[in-house]
Amino acid sequence: IFGPADEPITLDIAQPFAPARVSTTRRYLMCPPRYFTVEYAINPWMDPSQPTSTELAMEQWTALKDTYERLGHDVSVIEPQQGLPDMVFAANSGTVIDGRVLGSRFRAEQRAAEADHFRRWFLESGYKAVVMPTAVNEAEGDFTWTGQLLLAGTGFRTDPGAHSEAQEVLGVPVVSLQLVDPRFYHLDVALFMLDDQSERPLVAYYPEAFSPGSQRVLRRLFPDAVIANDDDAVCLGLNAVSDGRHVVMPVEATNLAEQVARRGFEPVLVDISELRKSGGGPKCCTMELRG
Ligand code: ARG
Repeated sequence: IFGPADEPITLDIAQPFAPARVSTTRRYLMCPPRYFTVEYAINPWMDPSQPTSTELAMEQWTALKDTYERLGHDVSVIEPQQGLPDMVFAANSGTVIDGRVLGSRFRAEQRAAEADHFRRWFLESGYKAVVMPTAVNEAEGDFTWTGQLLLAGTGFRTDPGAHSEAQEVLGVPVVSLQLVDPRFYHLDVALFMLDDQSERPLVAYYPEAFSPGSQRVLRRLFPDAVIANDDDAVCLGLNAVSDGRHVVMPVEATNLAEQVARRGFEPVLVDISELRKSGGGPKCCTMELRG
Protein backbone atom coordinates (compact mmCIF):
# COMPACT_ATOMS: atom_id res chain seq x y z
CA ILE A 1 0.00 0.00 0.00
CA PHE A 2 1.34 3.41 -0.93
CA GLY A 3 0.20 6.82 0.21
CA PRO A 4 0.12 10.12 -1.66
CA ALA A 5 3.71 11.10 -1.00
CA ASP A 6 5.24 7.67 -1.71
CA GLU A 7 4.98 6.86 1.96
CA PRO A 8 3.75 3.38 2.68
CA ILE A 9 0.51 3.46 4.65
CA THR A 10 -0.11 0.31 6.58
CA LEU A 11 -3.67 -0.85 6.94
CA ASP A 12 -3.72 -3.51 9.59
CA ILE A 13 -6.55 -5.65 8.35
CA ALA A 14 -6.85 -9.38 8.81
CA GLN A 15 -7.71 -11.23 5.60
CA PRO A 16 -8.31 -14.74 6.80
CA PHE A 17 -10.44 -16.01 3.90
CA ALA A 18 -9.50 -13.68 1.08
CA PRO A 19 -8.25 -15.28 -2.12
CA ALA A 20 -4.82 -14.31 -3.48
CA ARG A 21 -5.24 -11.50 -5.99
CA VAL A 22 -3.21 -11.31 -9.17
CA SER A 23 -2.53 -8.09 -11.04
CA THR A 24 -2.27 -7.87 -14.81
CA THR A 25 -0.27 -5.18 -16.59
CA ARG A 26 -2.45 -2.42 -18.01
CA ARG A 27 -2.12 0.30 -20.61
CA TYR A 28 -3.64 3.64 -19.75
CA LEU A 29 -4.12 6.93 -21.54
CA MET A 30 -3.97 10.10 -19.46
CA CYS A 31 -4.03 13.85 -20.11
CA PRO A 32 -2.18 16.29 -17.82
CA PRO A 33 -4.42 18.99 -16.27
CA ARG A 34 -2.23 21.84 -17.55
CA TYR A 35 -5.29 24.00 -18.32
CA PHE A 36 -7.45 22.72 -15.46
CA THR A 37 -10.00 25.11 -13.93
CA VAL A 38 -13.65 24.98 -12.98
CA GLU A 39 -15.11 27.70 -15.18
CA TYR A 40 -18.52 26.18 -15.91
CA ALA A 41 -20.82 23.83 -14.01
CA ILE A 42 -22.09 20.70 -15.74
CA ASN A 43 -22.38 18.53 -12.63
CA PRO A 44 -23.25 19.31 -8.98
CA TRP A 45 -19.60 19.13 -7.87
CA MET A 46 -18.54 22.06 -10.01
CA ASP A 47 -18.72 25.55 -8.49
CA PRO A 48 -16.98 28.13 -10.68
CA SER A 49 -16.84 30.61 -7.77
CA GLN A 50 -14.61 28.23 -5.79
CA PRO A 51 -10.88 28.81 -6.47
CA THR A 52 -8.84 26.01 -8.06
CA SER A 53 -5.12 25.49 -8.41
CA THR A 54 -3.79 24.20 -11.70
CA GLU A 55 -0.44 23.62 -10.01
CA LEU A 56 -1.95 21.41 -7.33
CA ALA A 57 -4.02 19.56 -9.93
CA MET A 58 -0.81 18.89 -11.88
CA GLU A 59 0.94 17.63 -8.74
CA GLN A 60 -1.88 15.26 -7.83
CA TRP A 61 -2.22 14.03 -11.41
CA THR A 62 1.55 13.43 -11.65
CA ALA A 63 1.44 11.43 -8.41
CA LEU A 64 -1.39 9.34 -9.89
CA LYS A 65 0.57 8.67 -13.08
CA ASP A 66 3.70 7.83 -11.05
CA THR A 67 1.61 5.42 -8.98
CA TYR A 68 0.49 3.52 -12.09
CA GLU A 69 4.05 3.35 -13.36
CA ARG A 70 5.36 2.16 -10.02
CA LEU A 71 2.76 -0.61 -10.16
CA GLY A 72 4.22 -1.65 -13.52
CA HIS A 73 1.59 -0.20 -15.86
CA ASP A 74 2.22 1.59 -19.11
CA VAL A 75 0.89 5.15 -19.32
CA SER A 76 0.53 7.05 -22.58
CA VAL A 77 -0.06 10.79 -22.46
CA ILE A 78 -2.14 12.95 -24.78
CA GLU A 79 -1.36 16.65 -25.17
CA PRO A 80 -3.84 18.86 -23.25
CA GLN A 81 -5.52 21.77 -25.04
CA GLN A 82 -6.01 25.30 -23.84
CA GLY A 83 -9.69 26.11 -23.38
CA LEU A 84 -10.59 22.49 -22.57
CA PRO A 85 -10.26 22.44 -18.76
CA ASP A 86 -11.96 19.03 -18.40
CA MET A 87 -9.72 17.25 -20.89
CA VAL A 88 -7.84 15.75 -17.92
CA PHE A 89 -10.80 13.37 -17.60
CA ALA A 90 -9.53 11.09 -20.35
CA ALA A 91 -11.90 8.27 -19.43
CA ASN A 92 -14.74 10.22 -21.04
CA SER A 93 -13.19 10.16 -24.49
CA GLY A 94 -13.08 6.56 -25.57
CA THR A 95 -13.99 2.96 -24.88
CA VAL A 96 -11.35 0.54 -26.12
CA ILE A 97 -11.94 -3.22 -26.12
CA ASP A 98 -9.82 -5.70 -28.08
CA GLY A 99 -8.21 -2.80 -29.92
CA ARG A 100 -11.55 -1.48 -31.20
CA VAL A 101 -12.25 2.12 -30.32
CA LEU A 102 -15.59 3.80 -29.80
CA GLY A 103 -14.93 7.52 -29.36
CA SER A 104 -17.13 9.98 -27.54
CA ARG A 105 -19.78 12.61 -28.09
CA PHE A 106 -20.19 14.92 -25.12
CA ARG A 107 -23.50 16.16 -23.81
CA ALA A 108 -22.07 19.54 -22.79
CA GLU A 109 -21.01 21.86 -25.55
CA GLN A 110 -18.06 23.02 -23.37
CA ARG A 111 -16.46 19.57 -23.69
CA ALA A 112 -17.46 18.76 -27.28
CA ALA A 113 -14.07 19.56 -28.84
CA GLU A 114 -12.25 17.02 -26.65
CA ALA A 115 -13.63 14.11 -28.67
CA ASP A 116 -11.74 14.97 -31.84
CA HIS A 117 -8.39 15.41 -30.09
CA PHE A 118 -8.72 11.88 -28.79
CA ARG A 119 -9.93 10.56 -32.16
CA ARG A 120 -6.73 11.92 -33.71
CA TRP A 121 -4.63 10.43 -30.93
CA PHE A 122 -6.10 6.99 -31.63
CA LEU A 123 -5.43 7.27 -35.36
CA GLU A 124 -1.89 8.55 -34.85
CA SER A 125 -1.26 5.73 -32.38
CA GLY A 126 -2.10 3.08 -34.93
CA TYR A 127 -5.67 2.15 -34.01
CA LYS A 128 -7.46 1.05 -37.17
CA ALA A 129 -11.01 0.50 -35.98
CA VAL A 130 -11.99 3.93 -34.65
CA VAL A 131 -15.68 4.80 -34.74
CA MET A 132 -17.21 8.06 -33.53
CA PRO A 133 -20.67 7.73 -31.96
CA THR A 134 -23.83 9.36 -33.24
CA ALA A 135 -25.57 9.34 -29.84
CA VAL A 136 -24.33 11.21 -26.75
CA ASN A 137 -21.67 8.89 -25.36
CA GLU A 138 -19.26 9.79 -22.55
CA ALA A 139 -17.26 6.62 -22.97
CA GLU A 140 -15.72 5.04 -19.87
CA GLY A 141 -17.50 7.66 -17.80
CA ASP A 142 -20.60 5.56 -18.42
CA PHE A 143 -19.15 2.29 -19.75
CA THR A 144 -17.47 -0.34 -17.57
CA TRP A 145 -16.02 -3.49 -19.11
CA THR A 146 -16.37 -6.44 -16.76
CA GLY A 147 -14.26 -8.75 -18.91
CA GLN A 148 -17.46 -10.37 -20.17
CA LEU A 149 -19.95 -7.62 -20.73
CA LEU A 150 -20.18 -3.90 -20.92
CA LEU A 151 -22.11 -2.21 -18.11
CA ALA A 152 -23.59 0.98 -19.50
CA GLY A 153 -24.95 3.88 -17.47
CA THR A 154 -27.56 6.38 -18.54
CA GLY A 155 -29.72 8.99 -16.86
CA PHE A 156 -27.54 12.08 -16.89
CA ARG A 157 -24.97 11.99 -19.68
CA THR A 158 -24.79 9.03 -22.05
CA ASP A 159 -27.95 8.43 -24.13
CA PRO A 160 -29.54 4.96 -24.00
CA GLY A 161 -29.09 4.87 -27.79
CA ALA A 162 -25.33 4.89 -27.22
CA HIS A 163 -25.65 1.55 -25.45
CA SER A 164 -26.88 -0.33 -28.51
CA GLU A 165 -24.38 1.56 -30.63
CA ALA A 166 -21.59 0.35 -28.32
CA GLN A 167 -22.87 -3.20 -28.58
CA GLU A 168 -22.75 -3.08 -32.40
CA VAL A 169 -19.43 -1.24 -32.74
CA LEU A 170 -17.52 -3.10 -30.04
CA GLY A 171 -19.28 -6.44 -30.51
CA VAL A 172 -19.83 -7.02 -26.81
CA PRO A 173 -23.02 -7.64 -24.84
CA VAL A 174 -24.29 -4.50 -23.13
CA VAL A 175 -26.30 -4.23 -19.93
CA SER A 176 -28.00 -0.87 -19.38
CA LEU A 177 -28.12 0.63 -15.90
CA GLN A 178 -30.18 3.62 -14.82
CA LEU A 179 -28.46 6.28 -12.70
CA VAL A 180 -30.77 8.33 -10.48
CA ASP A 181 -28.68 10.62 -8.23
CA PRO A 182 -27.23 13.74 -9.93
CA ARG A 183 -24.14 13.64 -7.70
CA PHE A 184 -23.31 10.32 -9.32
CA TYR A 185 -23.92 11.48 -12.88
CA HIS A 186 -21.57 8.95 -14.50
CA LEU A 187 -21.46 5.20 -13.97
CA ASP A 188 -17.78 5.44 -13.02
CA VAL A 189 -18.57 7.43 -9.87
CA ALA A 190 -21.04 4.75 -8.73
CA LEU A 191 -19.33 1.46 -9.64
CA PHE A 192 -15.93 0.05 -10.54
CA MET A 193 -14.40 -3.32 -11.39
CA LEU A 194 -12.19 -4.94 -8.81
CA ASP A 195 -11.52 -8.02 -10.89
CA ASP A 196 -12.19 -8.13 -14.65
CA GLN A 197 -10.01 -11.16 -15.36
CA SER A 198 -11.69 -14.07 -13.62
CA GLU A 199 -14.71 -16.20 -14.46
CA ARG A 200 -16.63 -14.37 -11.78
CA PRO A 201 -16.03 -10.65 -12.24
CA LEU A 202 -16.04 -8.73 -8.98
CA VAL A 203 -17.40 -5.19 -8.70
CA ALA A 204 -17.85 -2.57 -6.02
CA TYR A 205 -20.82 -0.20 -6.22
CA TYR A 206 -23.05 2.25 -4.39
CA PRO A 207 -26.60 0.90 -4.72
CA GLU A 208 -28.41 4.19 -4.04
CA ALA A 209 -26.96 5.69 -7.22
CA PHE A 210 -29.10 3.26 -9.26
CA SER A 211 -32.82 2.84 -9.90
CA PRO A 212 -34.53 -0.04 -8.05
CA GLY A 213 -34.63 -2.14 -11.23
CA SER A 214 -30.94 -1.58 -11.93
CA GLN A 215 -30.12 -2.45 -8.32
CA ARG A 216 -31.85 -5.79 -8.87
CA VAL A 217 -29.88 -6.31 -12.08
CA LEU A 218 -26.63 -5.63 -10.21
CA ARG A 219 -27.55 -8.00 -7.38
CA ARG A 220 -28.37 -10.70 -9.92
CA LEU A 221 -25.15 -10.23 -11.89
CA PHE A 222 -22.85 -9.68 -8.92
CA PRO A 223 -24.25 -11.32 -5.78
CA ASP A 224 -20.89 -11.08 -3.99
CA ALA A 225 -20.14 -7.43 -4.83
CA VAL A 226 -18.48 -5.02 -2.43
CA ILE A 227 -21.16 -2.56 -1.34
CA ALA A 228 -20.01 1.01 -0.76
CA ASN A 229 -21.60 3.30 1.82
CA ASP A 230 -22.54 7.01 1.66
CA ASP A 231 -19.13 8.14 2.94
CA ASP A 232 -17.37 6.17 0.22
CA ALA A 233 -19.64 7.57 -2.46
CA VAL A 234 -19.49 11.27 -1.52
CA CYS A 235 -15.69 11.42 -1.73
CA LEU A 236 -16.01 9.78 -5.19
CA GLY A 237 -14.40 6.68 -3.70
CA LEU A 238 -16.00 4.49 -6.36
CA ASN A 239 -13.98 6.30 -9.00
CA ALA A 240 -11.20 3.77 -8.51
CA VAL A 241 -8.89 1.78 -10.78
CA SER A 242 -7.99 -1.84 -10.10
CA ASP A 243 -5.40 -3.97 -11.88
CA GLY A 244 -6.78 -7.11 -10.26
CA ARG A 245 -4.70 -6.68 -7.14
CA HIS A 246 -3.90 -3.01 -6.47
CA VAL A 247 -6.85 -0.67 -6.18
CA VAL A 248 -5.96 2.97 -6.76
CA MET A 249 -8.56 5.03 -4.93
CA PRO A 250 -9.15 8.38 -3.22
CA VAL A 251 -7.53 8.53 0.21
CA GLU A 252 -10.79 9.60 1.89
CA ALA A 253 -12.59 6.34 1.00
CA THR A 254 -11.55 4.60 4.21
CA ASN A 255 -14.49 2.20 4.56
CA LEU A 256 -14.18 1.11 0.93
CA ALA A 257 -10.41 0.64 1.32
CA GLU A 258 -11.02 -1.60 4.30
CA GLN A 259 -13.67 -3.59 2.45
CA VAL A 260 -11.51 -4.22 -0.60
CA ALA A 261 -8.57 -5.14 1.64
CA ARG A 262 -10.79 -7.74 3.32
CA ARG A 263 -11.37 -9.26 -0.11
CA GLY A 264 -7.63 -9.60 -0.61
CA PHE A 265 -6.92 -6.48 -2.68
CA GLU A 266 -4.31 -3.85 -1.86
CA PRO A 267 -5.71 -0.34 -1.63
CA VAL A 268 -3.35 2.31 -3.00
CA LEU A 269 -4.54 5.64 -1.70
CA VAL A 270 -4.10 8.85 -3.68
CA ASP A 271 -5.00 12.47 -2.99
CA ILE A 272 -7.09 13.76 -5.87
CA SER A 273 -8.93 16.55 -3.99
CA GLU A 274 -8.26 19.26 -6.56
CA LEU A 275 -9.77 17.31 -9.45
CA ARG A 276 -12.75 16.39 -7.30
CA LYS A 277 -13.76 20.07 -7.51
CA SER A 278 -14.70 19.23 -11.09
CA GLY A 279 -16.43 15.99 -10.12
CA GLY A 280 -13.56 13.66 -10.99
CA GLY A 281 -11.29 11.11 -9.36
CA PRO A 282 -8.56 8.63 -10.33
CA LYS A 283 -10.68 6.64 -12.78
CA CYS A 284 -11.95 9.74 -14.62
CA CYS A 285 -8.31 10.62 -15.33
CA THR A 286 -7.59 7.16 -16.71
CA MET A 287 -8.74 5.57 -19.95
CA GLU A 288 -7.84 1.89 -20.26
CA LEU A 289 -6.43 0.78 -23.63
CA ARG A 290 -7.43 -2.87 -23.99
CA GLY A 291 -5.82 -4.91 -26.72
N1 ARG B 1 -16.19 18.04 -15.01
C1 ARG B 1 -16.28 16.82 -15.72
C2 ARG B 1 -17.67 16.64 -16.28
O1 ARG B 1 -18.61 16.98 -15.59
C3 ARG B 1 -15.90 15.67 -14.86
C4 ARG B 1 -15.88 14.36 -15.57
C5 ARG B 1 -15.44 13.27 -14.67
N2 ARG B 1 -15.23 12.10 -15.40
C6 ARG B 1 -15.75 10.90 -15.12
N3 ARG B 1 -15.35 9.89 -15.82
N4 ARG B 1 -16.68 10.76 -14.22
O2 ARG B 1 -17.87 16.19 -17.38
